[in-house]
Amino acid sequence: MPVKGHSLLDGVVGVGDAVLLEPLTEDNFLTNLQERFQHNDIYTYIGSVVVSVNPYKKLPIYDEEMIERYKGRNLYELPPHIYAVSDLAYRSMKNYNRDQCIMITGESGSGKTEASKLVMKYVAAMSSRSHEVEAIKQQLLQSNPVLEAFGNAKTNRNDNSSRFGKYMDIEFDFKGDPVGGVISNYLLEKSRVVRQAAGERNFHIFYQLLSGAPPGTLKKLKLENTGDLEYVNTKDCTSDDSTSFKQVLNAFDVIGFSRKEVDNVLQLVAAVMKLGNVQFRSISGKNGLENCVVKNPDEIADICDLLSVNPNTLTMALTQRTVTAKKDAVTVKLSASEASYNRDALCKEIYDRLFSWLVNRINSSIKVTSIKIEKCKVMGVLDIYGFEVFERNGFEQFMINYCNEKLQQIFVELTLKEEQEEYVREGIEWLHIEYFNNSIICQLIENPHSGILSMLDEESMRPGDVTDQTLLAKLESVCGKHKHFESRRDSKFLADKTLPHEAFRIQHYAGKVTYMVENFIDKNNNALFRNLSMAAFTSSNSLLGGSKGLFPEGDPSITVLKRHPTTATQFKSSMGALMHNLLNKNPNYIRCIKPNDVKRSNVFSCDLVRHQVRYLGLMENVRVRRAGYAFRQKYEDCLKRYKMLSPKTWPLWHGPPKEGVKHILQNSNVSSDKFEYGHSKIFIRNPKTLFFLEDLRADALHDLATVIQKIWRGFSCWKKFQQMKKAEIIISKTVKRYQAQQKYLKLKSAAIVFQCFIRGWKARCQLRALKLHKQRCISVTLIAAHWKGYKTRVEYRKFFRANAGKVIGKFLEKYVISKYFMTLKENLPARSPIDKTWPVCKYKFLKETHGILQTMYHKWRCMKYRKSITPEKKKQLSEKLQASNLFRGKKSLYAISLPKWFVGDHVSISTNEKWRKGANVSGDLDIVFADEGFKINRADGKLVSCLVVLSTKALMIVDGKTFKAKARQPIQSITGLSFSPFDDGMVVIHTRATDNNANKHKGDIILNVAHSIELATKLFLLIKNSTEKQIQITIGESVKLTCKGEMQISFMKSTSGATAPDVKKRKNLFVVTVPNKSTPNGVAQ
Ligand SMILES: Nc1ncnc2c1ncn2[C@@H]1O[C@H](COP(=O)(O)OP(=O)(O)OP(=O)(O)O)[C@@H](O)[C@H]1O
Ligand SMILES: [Mg+2]
Repeated sequence: MPVKGHSLLDGVVGVGDAVLLEPLTEDNFLTNLQERFQHNDIYTYIGSVVVSVNPYKKLPIYDEEMIERYKGRNLYELPPHIYAVSDLAYRSMKNYNRDQCIMITGESGSGKTEASKLVMKYVAAMSSRSHEVEAIKQQLLQSNPVLEAFGNAKTNRNDNSSRFGKYMDIEFDFKGDPVGGVISNYLLEKSRVVRQAAGERNFHIFYQLLSGAPPGTLKKLKLENTGDLEYVNTKDCTSDDSTSFKQVLNAFDVIGFSRKEVDNVLQLVAAVMKLGNVQFRSISGKNGLENCVVKNPDEIADICDLLSVNPNTLTMALTQRTVTAKKDAVTVKLSASEASYNRDALCKEIYDRLFSWLVNRINSSIKVTSIKIEKCKVMGVLDIYGFEVFERNGFEQFMINYCNEKLQQIFVELTLKEEQEEYVREGIEWLHIEYFNNSIICQLIENPHSGILSMLDEESMRPGDVTDQTLLAKLESVCGKHKHFESRRDSKFLADKTLPHEAFRIQHYAGKVTYMVENFIDKNNNALFRNLSMAAFTSSNSLLGGSKGLFPEGDPSITVLKRHPTTATQFKSSMGALMHNLLNKNPNYIRCIKPNDVKRSNVFSCDLVRHQVRYLGLMENVRVRRAGYAFRQKYEDCLKRYKMLSPKTWPLWHGPPKEGVKHILQNSNVSSDKFEYGHSKIFIRNPKTLFFLEDLRADALHDLATVIQKIWRGFSCWKKFQQMKKAEIIISKTVKRYQAQQKYLKLKSAAIVFQCFIRGWKARCQLRALKLHKQRCISVTLIAAHWKGYKTRVEYRKFFRANAGKVIGKFLEKYVISKYFMTLKENLPARSPIDKTWPVCKYKFLKETHGILQTMYHKWRCMKYRKSITPEKKKQLSEKLQASNLFRGKKSLYAISLPKWFVGDHVSISTNEKWRKGANVSGDLDIVFADEGFKINRADGKLVSCLVVLSTKALMIVDGKTFKAKARQPIQSITGLSFSPFDDGMVVIHTRATDNNANKHKGDIILNVAHSIELATKLFLLIKNSTEKQIQITIGESVKLTCKGEMQISFMKSTSGATAPDVKKRKNLFVVTVPNKSTPNGVAQ
């Protein structure tokens, strides 16, 4: 029978599967483990059970690459690994739809917690990486740091020892993606909060908070500058604690704790730490009894601040106890030691309840919400505190070891007992293999009538004087005869000094453990004084106080309190539930072994390992496995999975399932010694056979897939063909329709053209006929009218005078003319000479008259207008007319000056007395024009402000302040004026020397006057009227002038937006830059 692709543990150190050991002895088994351990092969199989030896060092075998290697591979294809078992569990869950559980067992420090984290890591890596799934995975994985911080501690056996039991159900959807989970926690070792053995630490969170929290947080938690704390030795803090604290805060965040919740949790942790420091001082009470008071009330104040409780309430709760008997409440004051006990009880209870709250809070974050729970498949991972034996073992160790005893029993039940019983049940030939069944020890502990737990409960609840000693006596009397129970009372152990008087010893599956009975009753009762729970209830911290807080029983309105179930009862029932849960799932085992007691790598203590191998029953496990069958399956399931391996069973088998399986095996050529037929199951001896069948199945599935693919492809091609055919019909239909449409449209338009022509031709013919008919009708009517008229005239001629027609005509003419005049009169246009409107004439014969009347009317209104003009106005108009003649169309300033009347004396100089005095002398009193302006210096081109005054005699440049003429040019000496064509006020006054001023004559004057058009016009008319000569007016961009020689003035428009003219003199040239669309010196015209 060929087997494809399986290494079957070839090429590994020693033997990868202990089932293959030859000869099979305990020594051989240990040597094999040791050899493999020394080569860092820490995993070894016993069939599908994986034995893991703690390497106490980091091995490079857990990375992503390794996960990829083990993904979907059969158990024996690759070297033994925890990933292979995880993969097996994950795939059986996915493929066979069976809930799985992974039981990780071993003593404290053997690597259970690490193994559980590796399983979770593998499962997380297997599932899809969608955003949603990734978030859930992170929440599940991040629950570990939180629970480890609060529930793990350093012990002498393990630096990260789990001090609580944890069972986590990871729930998957049908695709195999995690959708949530539920965590169950079991009995936290709360006594550690207040007391730790030498060399051990309190729970990690205390150290993490102290070394990792920022100073601000520590201040808020009142933990800054704390010296030594009673419960927490601050010297034990390490640098790792600080890093872990950050991880814990991050984990809180990922899981979804709110800021407030985290603050509340940290406040409680800090309060517990500080409570440890509260001390009591004995005082003597009134009744002579010992009472106490708080030694350090400051601490109480801080704690109450953190717990949000009134300091008096807490102090009273710690130092007093109220006992209610028959509705009467009696308050008893406590002694200092009782108060300390009370304080410790409060701390333990707060911490324990806080831990349970954390588990519940995580559960509420990770619980399945998206799909129905019944649809989920579940994989449980059990990581519980390992079997432990200390120098001094108490109540907690008893419970922990009881739990391990129960787990061992499951292992025994399922792997040794059940397996062997199944062979017998199924009728398989079987030679019984002896093994130790620890159910007898379980019975000793949990028997409902005579078990230690029920004795403990009985004693705890018994009225009367109950002490740990009475409990021990009871145990001795009830269980004394049990062969796994030992006590000093028993005559056999009377002389056994190793067994103290106040202790009992149990021979556990893993060895003997002596338990000191001290505090058994107290711890089992687990009762907190009501005063304390009532004080906690009053807290305004939402986590601690109120009915939804950690101490709901402290509600003062609850008068009748139910008795709290004892710890033993609670633990026993939670163990029962756990066992029930585990038994309902397909088990997968990881058996952890601790190689040495010194937590060191590469140290393999043979004795220690031998002890563990013995009590874990590993040898029996190997023997059963070796003699037995590696795989069994119900015929129905086997048929369902492998029915494709025989043509008879594929696709449907209607006979009995067993017959179907026979056909499958025959058809697969599996030789008959490789399997056995049971009554309801097929038993396969070697995993090789299973792999062989799996390979055949994979090939068959491959072939089936090919067939399906073939059919599917054929179908999809046929479907495509059908679609194409349909499409082709649609396309050809559309094309044909389109073509027909086009043809039809052409024919239609041709028909319309024909129709048009024919209709047009017909219409024209008809029109012609109608026109002819109409003409005939008109002619007939006309002829008839003339004829009738003629006839009538002939008939009536005798009654009328011969010229009556003329008279009537005249009358009508008069009537029309009078109507015309009346209408014209009413519609005459305005009297303004410039109004060009004139009514329209309706009568052709009056057209000429109408024109004549228009001219007459216009002349009349002009005459009227002229008559209305005063001589003054006439003079102004004639000046305006002259200005028009001189400047219209030549200088752009003219258009701006047009609407303004010429004023003459713009500065009212004629009334100025100063002026008048000077003018009287020079004879210039008759002012024609006066205005502000600028004189341009002929020497340097500078503009000098002045008044420009024109009298009937001369043009003067007058000082604006003194009103004295600075220059006087008689009008006879003015020969011409020059201007720029732009809208500036520059004027060049050309002069000649006269007989009187021949010596003083300086040449032509350049002025810049606001009203330059007015000045020019007035000057022109003045000279014309007085000398009957016309002076020359020149307008141009370049003008010649004379001033101490021939010069030139050139005008140009400013491009910079200047508002005043700028004059630059360059040798014989004045360059005047005049403002663009502005006025000289910026004054509007
Ligand atoms: N696979 C491993 N690789 C490297 N170190 C390991 C491995 N398994 C365990 N260890 C080391 O051993 C220590 C103890 O392991 P772990 O805490 O898992 O023990 P445990 O069985 O859970 O003990 P307890 O019952 O006290 O909780 C770990 O802190 C780690 O240092
Ligand atoms: Mg652990």
